[in-house]
Amino acid sequence: MKNEQFNKPDLKDARKRSKIESIVSEFHYNNLISNIGENKKYIIQTHGCQANEADTEKIKGLLESQGFTPALDETEADLIIINTCAIRANAENKVFGEIGRFKRLKMKKPDLVIAIGGCMPQEEVVVEKLLKTYRQVDIIFGTHNLHKLLDYLAIVMIEKRRVVEVLSFEGDLVENVPTVRDNRYKAWVNIMYGCDEFCTYCIVPYTRGKERSRKPEHILEEIQSLVNDGYQEITLLGQNVNSYGLDFTSRAYRFSDLLKDVSALNIPRIRFTTSHPKDFSLALIEALAKGKNLMPFIHLPVQSGSNRILKMMNRKYTKESYIELINTIRNLIPGVSITTDIIVGFPSETEAEFQETMDLVRTCQFEGAYTFVFSKRTGTPAALMEDLTPTEEKKDRLYRLNDLINEGFLRGNERFLDTNVKVLVEGPSKSNKDFLCGYTEHNKLVNFRGNPENIGTIIDLHITEAKTWSLKGEVLHE
Ligand code: 5AD
Ligand code: SF4
Repeated sequence: MKNEQFNKPDLKDARKRSKIESIVSEFHYNNLISNIGENKKYIIQTHGCQANEADTEKIKGLLESQGFTPALDETEADLIIINTCAIRANAENKVFGEIGRFKRLKMKKPDLVIAIGGCMPQEEVVVEKLLKTYRQVDIIFGTHNLHKLLDYLAIVMIEKRRVVEVLSFEGDLVENVPTVRDNRYKAWVNIMYGCDEFCTYCIVPYTRGKERSRKPEHILEEIQSLVNDGYQEITLLGQNVNSYGLDFTSRAYRFSDLLKDVSALNIPRIRFTTSHPKDFSLALIEALAKGKNLMPFIHLPVQSGSNRILKMMNRKYTKESYIELINTIRNLIPGVSITTDIIVGFPSETEAEFQETMDLVRTCQFEGAYTFVFSKRTGTPAALMEDLTPTEEKKDRLYRLNDLINEGFLRGNERFLDTNVKVLVEGPSKSNKDFLCGYTEHNKLVNFRGNPENIGTIIDLHITEAKTWSLKGEVLHE
């Protein structure tokens, strides 16, 4: 295609896996792009999971390093970036709606640059659709080449060419991409990228590529600099943090080792997400139980309570082994709060199998869950499975499940009534401006009257009221 830089995704390539340990390279600027953002304003929309939120902080870092400044709203922006999510159809539909809306802005301001990044461009069907019906988009880039965004902007802004550059192989692990963090007290730290699990419903192994673990030295260095900057909490990020280090060929260093080393740094709170039940090892549970700054909160997606469905999902554990794991975690980490993810209406799931999921929720006493109706993702094995359950029935299962989950949410909050908790103060409460809010060690939201000077610090509160979605507390001493 003339006048375009062109590289489209290929799901078959994205499925390939190699055993080679990733090469690490340092981020460097291309000389051509100096200050292309001078007097230009940008806006970024972020959809989806924490991996995207962390990527957005890198996009901001890249842009601001070249003079771009944040726009107050879309009409003021010279550059609009959408960092997209591909996990379910409704996440994608939202993005298509937004791109449609931006067409009018571009008609008024022809120099407006629109860029689409993240997981959606990694899908062939999406790129085809964008090329066919959304000509207003100037840059389509994927998850593997985010660090090249400034080069693409230079092509569009200086050479006036459109860029479609999506890679279906992972490339190097690029360290030291400039970053502008959204929060001054809590930070995301990527420990690995990609996923090799290939759960049959999930598009992530295709959009995020093979599992690549960052070297411990780089992770610890990043966290040490966050400690030096006064950060109070870090969340270690990976699609499946439990398989951290499995791709190292030159050393035996696993997630439990990393947690011990991170825990030895002077950071008050450490969290991590997400875990796969299949490799949640005893060594990991023991490490968690010992580390004083490792928070007693575990998000452990179960997806279904039926062994037949778990098998069809390729989850590699059974209902029984999951329950055993939960019991071991609860025995070794007393009082731990456990949440989960559940999909209802997986192809061929019966009412009886759904009831098994409900029973599992009762047994495991989850204190919260993200619940979803199965969404067909083109290119995944589950998209080809016969799926005859009517949508209305799937929705009904979701509503019934949510009612049960909400009971667990309330129970999880009620157990802190009349106790003292430690809260990292985040800022004004969203529900009442006269209140502040923050999260406890068990990740419970607390609203309370307090001194805004405490924002960014950890304080002691007494819990006076427990509701389904939040707690109310009083400051003990400042
Ligand atoms: N349909 C519905 N939910 C999905 N998830 C992942 N893929 C799909 C899909 N195709 C859910 C899983 C996962 C969470 C991040 O999203 O529950 O744990
Ligand atoms: Fe998707 Fe499964 Fe990987 Fe999670 S572990 S990202 S659900 S494939």
